[in-house]
Amino acid sequence: MTENFLANKKFLFNNWASSYDWIFPSVFYRAIHQRLLEYVDLSEQVNVLDLGCGTGRLLERLATQFPYLRGTGLDLSPNMLRMARLSNRHHPRLIYVEGKAESLPFGEAQFDAVFNTISFLHYLEPQQVLNEVARVLTPGGRFYLVDFTFQKETELEKLLVSPLGVRFYSPKQREILGFASSLLCESHHYLLGPVLLTIFAKGQ
Ligand SMILES: C[S@@+](CC[C@H](N)C(=O)[O-])C[C@H]1O[C@@H](n2cnc3c(N)ncnc32)[C@H](O)[C@@H]1O
Repeated sequence: MTENFLANKKFLFNNWASSYDWIFPSVFYRAIHQRLLEYVDLSEQVNVLDLGCGTGRLLERLATQFPYLRGTGLDLSPNMLRMARLSNRHHPRLIYVEGKAESLPFGEAQFDAVFNTISFLHYLEPQQVLNEVARVLTPGGRFYLVDFTFQKETELEKLLVSPLGVRFYSPKQREILGFASSLLCESHHYLLGPVLLTIFAKGQ
């Protein structure tokens, strides 16, 4: 079940990769990245992970804004990663690796911050992904989760299982999921329409 689910996601994003940066959703995603940066608080020599990095646009932006930042982009789709590597102007500060959000190929406490934009909706095992995020974060490190949300808890049941294999989480649900993985919610911020940034901190 999990392997089939991931294979379907990989197929979808592999096919989308070559046009990803040129079609409408990407314009929307880039506007979201720009708004996200208004809330990002990083020290100078920081090491960050972008989980579900796609074509690497967010890391590129972060590396430009923070000249000493080192970053790793992880994604399921080799074609997305190929696009990211082709436009990587910050190598070797930025690198891209293939992997699954559910089992990250990194040791404990390697990253000062983890980013995740418009990707969390695709996870079959969200709690497992949050456990992995908490594992690779340094104590006090932050997790920036950006995704579509909804407000009314009553809409939950209908939105939880979509035929497209995506799920949305209310602000409260995000807090509960984060707490179960030792990620404490610091704040929520609407970035664009229903796209919500939730900032978590890993306990010291
Ligand atoms: C809509 S794209 C978002 C890309 C990028 N974060 C952005 O803001 O433009 C979602 C990305 O998540 C990746 N993805 C989906 N499920 C994944 C998983 N389980 N593990 C790793 N990457 C995954 C896809 O391959 C795709 O590149």
